[in-house]
Amino acid sequence: MTVTTPPDPLNFFWFIPTYGDGTYLGSETQQRPPEFGYFREVAQAVDRLGFGGVLLPTGQACEESWVTASGLATVTEKLKFLVALRPGVVQPAYAARQTAALDRLSNGRLLLNVVVGGNPVELAGDGVFLPHDQRYEQAAEFLRIWSGLVSGERVDFSGKHYRIEKGRLDFPPVQNPPPLYFGGSSEAGIDLAAEQCELYLTWGEPLEAVAGKIAAARSRAAARGRKLRFGIRLHFIVRETEAEAWAAADKLISRISDEQIEIAYKRFTQQMDSVGQRRMAELHGGRRDKLLVAPNLWAGVGLVRGGAGTALVGTPAQVAERLREYQALGIDTVIGSGYPHLEESYRVAELLFPELGINVARRGVSRAIQNEFGVDETARKLASAS
Ligand SMILES: Cc1cc2nc3c(=O)[nH]c(=O)nc-3n(C[C@H](O)[C@H](O)[C@H](O)COP(=O)(O)O)c2cc1C
Repeated sequence: MTVTTPPDPLNFFWFIPTYGDGTYLGSETQQRPPEFGYFREVAQAVDRLGFGGVLLPTGQACEESWVTASGLATVTEKLKFLVALRPGVVQPAYAARQTAALDRLSNGRLLLNVVVGGNPVELAGDGVFLPHDQRYEQAAEFLRIWSGLVSGERVDFSGKHYRIEKGRLDFPPVQNPPPLYFGGSSEAGIDLAAEQCELYLTWGEPLEAVAGKIAAARSRAAARGRKLRFGIRLHFIVRETEAEAWAAADKLISRISDEQIEIAYKRFTQQMDSVGQRRMAELHGGRRDKLLVAPNLWAGVGLVRGGAGTALVGTPAQVAERLREYQALGIDTVIGSGYPHLEESYRVAELLFPELGINVARRGVSRAIQNEFGVDETARKLASAS
């Protein structure tokens, strides 16, 4: 008889909506503006609910992620913060100082997401004019300098994109060093992850596609004598019944116009040069009638949202089953989100976490006090005797 030990529960992260939040995609009705007070509500909720961390997106349309994470770190206890390192936008030595400061301020709760960017128009606005693969070449140099500095080395570096003389970091980070996550899907991106990163992130693509990306990243890391961990980025629409879940999915995109879909599709496929973004757009092809791309995997969000465009939709048991399939491929971390992010974080924690064995301790609430949420044994006996 073979005894298989179940895998460890997933590390389940959530998302801070630093460009705003809402109930309907593509509509101004019931929108929430990007305010620090709201980010704090989401961060404090997910910290208490047992999420392991939060991703803060980076880009022109987002509130600045390092400043936001610094504020949130002071009002949370255990939550980790996945914040972007931006080669080309920020200098590596300065990024190393920011890294150490935020890691110290949060007492070792900082994680780094290496983002080279995938939209040349937006990158030009930040002063970055390099073509796709050269951005990765620059990122490789950036990470060598950054890694040296945060590991306490003195750095002298002369490369194609950066030159550093007698670089040093006087205040070290708490973690030695804080881990690097990475989410590009191109060949050059996977090479960078294989060479210098710890955890490779994929968008929520169907199982076979994710399996292919993991195999490629894993073998390229192995060729360098390295091992990678893996994570996936998905939205979640979890309800008690499947019908309710699909109704919620339909409602979320019910106010998007055809014109909005067309404009977004053009941006994803013509303006952007990100391979990952192109793969996400190809899942639905800009069509509302092609949104179910795998069992319980729905591409509706990606009609108008760049990046994470798929959601797992279904009952807690169905969604947990789908996640276990990804987990069997080697995924150990999930970065989730849902609209609106505050309410959906509760749904995920209350409906899905029990299925996944996450934060089990929190549910051991004493029912010594009888109220409308529970009936204790004494009350039951009294009721049946009377
Ligand atoms: C989980 C995850 C989070 C990402 N976050 C951001 C982000 O906040 N801002 C951004 O511009 N790109 C983000 N990206 C995109 C990539 O970092 C990368 O810049 C882009 O996909 C181009 O790379 P590629 O052509 O190798 O796919 C993210 C990707 C993943 C998988």
